Amino acid sequence: MAKLRWGMIGGGEGSQIGPAHRLGAQADGLFEFAAGALDHRPEAGREYAQRLGVAADRAYGGWQEMLAGEKDRADRIDLVTIATPNSTHFEIAKAYLEAGFNVLCEKPMTMTVEEGEEIVRVAEASGKICAVNYCYSAYPMVRQARAMVRSGEIGQVRLVVTNFSHGHHGDATDADNPRVRWRYDPAMAGVSGQFADCGIHALHMASFICDDEVKTLSADMASTIASRELEDDAMINFRMEGGTVGRLWTSSVAIGRQHGFDIQVFGETGGLRWASEQPNQLIYTPVGGRTQIIEKGEGGLHDEVQRLSRVAIAHPEGFPLAVANIYCDLADAIRGESRDGLPNAADGVRSIAAVHAAVASGKADGAWQDARPPMFR
Ligand code: NAI
Repeated sequence: MAKLRWGMIGGGEGSQIGPAHRLGAQADGLFEFAAGALDHRPEAGREYAQRLGVAADRAYGGWQEMLAGEKDRADRIDLVTIATPNSTHFEIAKAYLEAGFNVLCEKPMTMTVEEGEEIVRVAEASGKICAVNYCYSAYPMVRQARAMVRSGEIGQVRLVVTNFSHGHHGDATDADNPRVRWRYDPAMAGVSGQFADCGIHALHMASFICDDEVKTLSADMASTIASRELEDDAMINFRMEGGTVGRLWTSSVAIGRQHGFDIQVFGETGGLRWASEQPNQLIYTPVGGRTQIIEKGEGGLHDEVQRLSRVAIAHPEGFPLAVANIYCDLADAIRGESRDGLPNAADGVRSIAAVHAAVASGKADGAWQDARPPMFR
């Protein structure tokens, strides 16, 4: 089968997420890296793209130049990844969808709920895929957790508890470092700091595993380092459409926690636990029974999990290969296969609506808010 052609915007040399996309897109031989506008500095972007093997005439100086260069080519790209800073996602995603390209957008998909709803509508009208990179949902054992919930193995879910709390911005003497400071500055980051950056991964994961959507929430948002305008810590209580009770803690000042993303799902007949720092294991406890460790690669896992595991049992399959699983699903979806579980623009706008609801709740002493975007109420 011919490889699909892939282009990337952002993710330039030294960026945080760029390497995971390049490894992920190319891990399974499904995509060829055909075009790029990788850097906000045109020359640096052109030069780096060529060093990575992109042809000179498709190593572009900016996303508009890439759109103009690609849209009329017979061999135009089949998919574009947007891995630029958050405030640019909306404009770029909209322009590429309108020009008929499939898009994988980094989270958060947009800055406002209105923009998010517009992306949902534009994607629908274009008939193209707009996926959002909630890549943790593509770890094999997260897919196993979802499949176990769906098949009733832990019964009706009563409670979901999730954390995405690290300590990497906990040093007050480093708070003015420009790489850290912008995340808590509304002019750069929007209405929310830590919740929009990390908390939305945890919220998406809760919806993903429980196969349900967040309906209402109440939030306590705190800036524990006084110079920060936006929150560096948040505690969110939520309820899902199906009645499941949700708790979410996200923090960037939890010194000693490293990646710090984990989730526990408690059903009527069992409980599950998964943590991003031990991604190959899913901990399962049936009610009244012994706790078991389910390993990626062992027999008897759900089909969806086997499909997305590459190496044998006990060999670690880490973050870039979770991103690669998003690209596997995308390749199938681009070729017309339906791929349940691929995070999409609806997930993207649900997240940003939850962020805005949390900010409103935080300002109103935790008053409960509708967490859904108006289009899904
Ligand atoms: P970064 O600041 O490390 O890198 C951003 C890159 O985009 C740089 O190479 C920069 O030159 C380039 N860039 C900026 N504006 C551009 C433009 N207009 N055109 C082309 N290139 C441009 O940022 P980082 O941490 O890699 O984050 C990028 C995005 O990825 C953010 O939206 C972030 O939220 C998301 N992210 C997602 C993660 C995940 O787990 N899904 C993890 C880390 C980041």
